[in-house]
Amino acid sequence: MSTKKPAPPKTIESVLKEDRTFAPSAEFSKDAHIKSLSQYRRLYRESIKDPQRFWARQAEKEIVFYKPWKKVLQWKAPNAKWFVGGQTNVSANCLDCHLETDRANKAAIIWEGEPAAPGKPGEERTLTYRQLHREVCLFANVLKKNGIKKGDRVLIYLPMVPEAAIAMLACTRIGAVHSVVFGGFSAQSVADRIQDCAAKMVITSDGGFRRGGVVPLKENVDNALKIKVGRKSITQSIQRVIVLRRSENKVKMKRGRDVWWHDEISQVSDQCPPAKLDSEHPLFILYTSGSTGKPKGILHTTAGYLLGTKLSSKYVFDLKDDDVYWCTADVGWITGHSYVVYGPLANGATTLMYEGAPNWPGPDRFWQIVDKYQVTIMYTAPTAIRAFMKWGESWPKQYRLDSLRLLGTVGEPINPEAWMWYHRVIGKGRCPIVDTWWQTETGGIMITPLPGATPTKPGTATLPFFGITPEVVDDQGRAVPKNTGGKLIVRQPWPSMLRGIWGDPKRFVETYWSEVKGCYFTGDGCRQDSDGYFWIVGRIDDVLNVSGHRIGTAEVESALVSHKAVAEAAVVGRPDEIKGQALVAFVTVKGSAKASGDLQQILRNHVGKEIGPVAKPDQIRFTDALPKTRSGKIMRRLLKQIAAGKAIQGDTTTLEDISVLAKLSRSEE
Ligand code: PRX
Repeated sequence: MSTKKPAPPKTIESVLKEDRTFAPSAEFSKDAHIKSLSQYRRLYRESIKDPQRFWARQAEKEIVFYKPWKKVLQWKAPNAKWFVGGQTNVSANCLDCHLETDRANKAAIIWEGEPAAPGKPGEERTLTYRQLHREVCLFANVLKKNGIKKGDRVLIYLPMVPEAAIAMLACTRIGAVHSVVFGGFSAQSVADRIQDCAAKMVITSDGGFRRGGVVPLKENVDNALKIKVGRKSITQSIQRVIVLRRSENKVKMKRGRDVWWHDEISQVSDQCPPAKLDSEHPLFILYTSGSTGKPKGILHTTAGYLLGTKLSSKYVFDLKDDDVYWCTADVGWITGHSYVVYGPLANGATTLMYEGAPNWPGPDRFWQIVDKYQVTIMYTAPTAIRAFMKWGESWPKQYRLDSLRLLGTVGEPINPEAWMWYHRVIGKGRCPIVDTWWQTETGGIMITPLPGATPTKPGTATLPFFGITPEVVDDQGRAVPKNTGGKLIVRQPWPSMLRGIWGDPKRFVETYWSEVKGCYFTGDGCRQDSDGYFWIVGRIDDVLNVSGHRIGTAEVESALVSHKAVAEAAVVGRPDEIKGQALVAFVTVKGSAKASGDLQQILRNHVGKEIGPVAKPDQIRFTDALPKTRSGKIMRRLLKQIAAGKAIQGDTTTLEDISVLAKLSRSEE
């Protein structure tokens, strides 16, 4: 037997060095829910010593159950059931619970619409808890009237308007399972998702505003519903399309299938008692990229998800009743689900929703909104922060920003330079920053500072949240020493964890539960520093993070190859100052096709149509051949180096045809 120590995995490098530390101010800590590092450490230790006791206590305190659970956790990896035997309802916990309190007439959602043109103010709307409750009851009755029953899947394809939250909450009220599709996705993506979850209904709008233009959401749905494979429609499960009037854009309404939101709510009662749902009743499916071409439908269920998002919102954002909390994510992403809608509303907070882009009509749009609504907590993405840096400090400097007390980031590693800028220019050195690590699959925040307790360092999400047991391990699943790169896993189950991939239990096991027996594998590389802080290095599979959006290289490749001119494609990431990573596609064309500037544009648009504009490659490089191993596996490591303009390093002996490399390096011209 060899006694040689196994080398750390070669794929994971961690080169970031950062020594600056920022302790929370005494003033902040004094009023925070968790006031010191020692208090956090004590509670954390308790939470992992006896997790079931910890979660049981939290569930009793935070969630209203109609029927108490019998068992906190039933666990046989990879299948978890939390609060077994209990019955609850998410919309009732987010709405009805507050109606008997002082919060009934408090703003639940403050909404700011995109201005129609420069110089024009954005529209605004405020919904109190009582008003939001009424709207949700009305729309829940509309769902029922249109044939939606408990367990049916409903696709939501809306802009960032309050009706997106209303539709989500209405589904949860009656036990329908929503699947929100980001408004930037194409007709094909909508159709694929409908097909995968066999949705019965689509909720959309006549259009959504984006940078002064109108996104034709209804038209995209019409096109999605026409897509056929052979002679068979792939969306035949759809029986009804409900259309919200938003942009006054002209749309076609198909008789017998399409109805208007406003017509429907005028015909139903505003009373709709919440359904008593099993703790493990499916709550929603959210599609996310995987390392094969097909997106994965991540399934979350009722009680555990609610508890995870409620608890993390409260402690990570230190939510108080007088906060105006703004998470800038779109509801089409998990951040929008957990931290625009469910987490804040479960806490009775005021959550701000903004419809538009950060730079329309001007690059000061976010700061205008902060001052206008006196936002106290702001949660955004590193890619947005890098864009603000590029546009210049003169924009935020025109505003007071003195209402802000806490800042947050999510979605990708934040580079220390961006962290420092956020801290100095937006937080004026006064606001703690919570860099929160988590995933679509985890449902809620997993690794994060607690703002009144944890000293922060730019670039690290710091320490685990209560009840969460992350660990950095080697290829054999053994914990690696501090300051060594490895794979990030989570040892113990937690309430808001995914319950599966819709319709694909095999892929669920293979993707998340096969790396280390009985443990959840995150797909991220990581290292812990000598303080135990977790530094995420990035994904170690073939998923890229472009402007905070997770994009599987395989998805973009299959979109490219679906074009008639393309023979083969390989997509890799290249570091990008603003987006974090940019997409570079290496493409070989078919015999008669001509590699040209026009074709580059055509292919970019093709990917935009197949997946959505977020997935359009930043660069398309034509080449005669791709570097492959003898077994035919594309050597992405080499392509990454070429895409980044670096010299080829490392082993090339497995390359089938070495001359390919020289040709590839010239492929930029
Ligand atoms: O690689 C990690 C990165 O984003 C991935 C999850 O993406 P998604 O499921 O789209 O969810 C994004 C919003 C929760 C992770 O596997 N990531 C997310 N947050 C951070 C991060 N990387 C470093 N630091 C973070 N704070």
